[in-house]
Amino acid sequence: MPKERPLWRGAAFRLCVLSAALLLCLQLAVRRSWCPEERPRLPAVAASGRAVPQPRGTAAASGRRRVTYVRSGRRGGRPGRKTARWHIELQPWASPTPSLNYEALRFLKYISTSQISCEHMNLSSLRGNSEAMKRPWSVCLDERFSLIHRLRNKQCRLYSLGLGNDDNQFEISMANSGCEVHRFDPSIKSAHIQEGQHLWYHRLSVDWRDPNPAIAAHKLHSNTKKLGTILNEFGHQKIDVLKADVESAEWKILENLILEDVVEQIGQLVFEVHIHWPGFEVSGNDSTVVRYWYSLLRELELKDFRLFHTYKDLSKPQMLLKKEAFNASSCYTLSWVNTRWK
Ligand SMILES: *[C@@H]1O[C@H](CO)[C@@H](O)[C@H](O)[C@H]1NC(C)=O
Ligand SMILES: *[C@@H]1O[C@H](CO)[C@@H](O)[C@H](O)[C@H]1NC(C)=O
Ligand SMILES: *[C@@H]1O[C@H](CO)[C@@H](O)[C@H](O)[C@H]1NC(C)=O
Repeated sequence: MPKERPLWRGAAFRLCVLSAALLLCLQLAVRRSWCPEERPRLPAVAASGRAVPQPRGTAAASGRRRVTYVRSGRRGGRPGRKTARWHIELQPWASPTPSLNYEALRFLKYISTSQISCEHMNLSSLRGNSEAMKRPWSVCLDERFSLIHRLRNKQCRLYSLGLGNDDNQFEISMANSGCEVHRFDPSIKSAHIQEGQHLWYHRLSVDWRDPNPAIAAHKLHSNTKKLGTILNEFGHQKIDVLKADVESAEWKILENLILEDVVEQIGQLVFEVHIHWPGFEVSGNDSTVVRYWYSLLRELELKDFRLFHTYKDLSKPQMLLKKEAFNASSCYTLSWVNTRWK
């Protein structure tokens, strides 16, 4: 029969492969090397300090080392004690089994919902200037928060992080309202430029470490520094408002501010966040990335920051991690007030 022959041949072939594999395994076991059941001998790998010609053993050893590292990291990161933190505490998954759909729903709902109401967000009303601002950068000027008082007393300080975008309306309005404004922008021509009584430009880019891939991408030559370093060098203890429009570098910058506790020196945060891709140096599958973003924002909430304004940029594509997302935008502007801040 024409159909029986290939079948028989297939079975014989499989048997052959199986016995060959068994033989190989037996031979290796006799040589006291490895077999699936045998555990790699770690001390030998660790002691020799150089590449050992047994790839399986090395892989297992580095795997075990990584596990130890994660464990000790967790121990150090326990709340209640002020120790250096190396990672953000991740929130539980949004659903029993990780799913991008549930992560996205939870995250989008979170960034679309104000947590505290703010009645006065209109800077123009301060000066009787009715010119509407082009972008949705909002600060809270309610009397119960310090910003309005510090503006009146000319004690206010704004740091603005940008990457060569031209829209300076918000900065100019704040400077005209009496705030000392420092704009950090790697694309300007001189190291420091003063424009007007209250407005400075600095050729610096704020980073979470060196060098910033966002800057490399723009092919700009400039200094990059962490925000904590800039504060020390300028001798500034506090920032009333931190504005950031940094094209997807915002996630790692925010992480750095949280891990180094710099965020506690800031009164209000106004961040443009981008969600059409994970952002610079954010890795993992899609659900992991969204969970990480969400966990970052929950850390702010834990530090008593409250979202008082959220703006969805409808001129941008409706995309989340390169996928179409109904009724979302790839770009939001979020404003928080630090309710602990005095
Ligand atoms: C801001 O205040 C000005 C002046 O009081 C007013 O004309 C304008 O409509 C206000 N804008 C918003 C968005 O409330
Ligand atoms: C994404 O990665 C995480 C952690 O590595 C894993 O637990 C999860 O199942 C993955 N999710 C999907 C949808 O593949
Ligand atoms: C779209 O999202 C907004 C929040 O950004 C929400 O208020 C609105 O109900 C949503 N619309 C639909 C049709 O889901």
